Amino acid sequence: MIEESINDVLFSEKVIAERIERLVEEMAKDNRCKKIVMIGILRGSFMFFADLVRALYHHGIHPIIEFTTMESYSGTESRGVVKVLKEFTTDITGADVIVVDDILDTGRTLDFAIKHLMERGAASVKTCVLLDKPERRILPLQADYVGFKIDDHFVIGYGLDYDGAYRELPYIARLTPKT
Ligand code: IMP
Ligand code: MG
Repeated sequence: MIEESINDVLFSEKVIAERIERLVEEMAKDNRCKKIVMIGILRGSFMFFADLVRALYHHGIHPIIEFTTMESYSGTESRGVVKVLKEFTTDITGADVIVVDDILDTGRTLDFAIKHLMERGAASVKTCVLLDKPERRILPLQADYVGFKIDDHFVIGYGLDYDGAYRELPYIARLTPKT
């Protein structure tokens, strides 16, 4: 196993919570009168998703909650092919969907997710990510709601993993291999 170390904390629990509150104000304003289905892409989005829907509740937004499991990564490298490992069951025909992911990197996952949700009959699909690494983009995609833009670092914590580890950290940090 590669030894690695957690370097700088990029976003503390407090900073994340404050940013989510602002993000949710924006989302609540745009989606007030709609019947929303929120779909979290597992596993990376689980912590962000839970904090988002709790904050949305306090703004009077009560979405239907769904999850799908998709994968495009192995270690710190994007494999380029997105796979649905677990489908969702809710009928989204005619629904306004907000799809939530941990991070927008090459854009492959969200691009695939948007097409997939439209094929399943969504009336509209908006995207929400906690982190955005614009430098790494391969497909021309912008998320509707972005928590933080970051430089091209591999990050862990708050749902994000390195080979399955570190998802439980309540903050976001950079991961660098030990030399
Ligand atoms: P994309 O399909 O390349 O945009 O990648 C999105 C997915 O890659 C996310 O759902 C993450 O699971 C994973 N990913 C991208 N960058 C990182 C990172 O810095 N740390 C952990 N996972 C990442
Ligand atoms: Mg992921």
